[in-house]
Amino acid sequence: MPLLAGWLLRHSVVMCLLLHSLVLMTCCFHHAATSCSQSCYCTESETGGKTVRCSNLRLTEVPQDLPNDTRRVYLDNNLITSVPSDTFSDMPLLTELDLSHNELAQLEAGAFRGLGHSLHFLDLSSNKLVTFDPKAFEGLRTRANLTNNPWHCDCNLQMAMPHIDLEPMSLTGIVCQTSEPPDMGVEGVPFLLAKDLDLCVVMKKTTDVAMLVTMFGWFTMVISYLVYYVRHNTEDARRHLEYLKSLPGKQGKSEESSTISTVV
Ligand SMILES: *[C@@H]1O[C@H](CO)[C@@H](O)[C@H](O)[C@H]1NC(C)=O
Ligand SMILES: *[C@@H]1O[C@H](CO)[C@@H](O)[C@H](O)[C@H]1NC(C)=O
Repeated sequence: MPLLAGWLLRHSVVMCLLLHSLVLMTCCFHHAATSCSQSCYCTESETGGKTVRCSNLRLTEVPQDLPNDTRRVYLDNNLITSVPSDTFSDMPLLTELDLSHNELAQLEAGAFRGLGHSLHFLDLSSNKLVTFDPKAFEGLRTRANLTNNPWHCDCNLQMAMPHIDLEPMSLTGIVCQTSEPPDMGVEGVPFLLAKDLDLCVVMKKTTDVAMLVTMFGWFTMVISYLVYYVRHNTEDARRHLEYLKSLPGKQGKSEESSTISTVV
């Protein structure tokens, strides 16, 4: 009898534990299902906070129902084409944002606004980025992966670079695929390493030439007007003189000299 009682007791303890963990698990899954984005998969750990995984879902835009206490978002391998401004501005705890392997062609101003204090890593690698608005990275000092994008190195990019506060090493990921002007030897080279190169110099030259042409145009106009004016007046004066000459007497002569002095 005590043997059976002992057996029952031991097993009921195990049963109880099992039941308990089952209840806990249901609770947790229920919690995850209700407090997370519809299309993504969420996990939460006590130390690391909330992680949202939306990888490989053929998403064309960033889901709008990401929880505001998310720490990490994986949006890689989707078809996202743009990140509108203020997309993540109500996620003050976000430390890691993975947007790699998407179709991003441009970054709008304020795309990462509000993440300046929390974000530690931003992955934008393997997208379609050609250039960016420097205001897209406003306030971000984070490490970023900008590699594997078809960067177009031109005067615009050169002007934007000094306004980027991202961790400097990150900027080496901007490897020029094309350039304007072409054939400057920057293709395949990280833009930062082409520092001595001035991609704006050609534009400056063009402006100089335009200014010169405009000035020359004005000059020509003024000269031709002067020439026309002088010729016209000489013609008039000559005709006037001839007329005066045809007049008899002293009066004509004095008028003649006065007209000449006017012409001169
Ligand atoms: C998330 O939003 C809720 C409700 O608006 C708010 O009470 C909470 O403080 C926010 N959490 C964070 C981390 O901002
Ligand atoms: C950046 O991304 C590329 C491609 O996605 C990857 O191969 C590389 O290891 C990444 N670099 C860093 C520093 O994370």
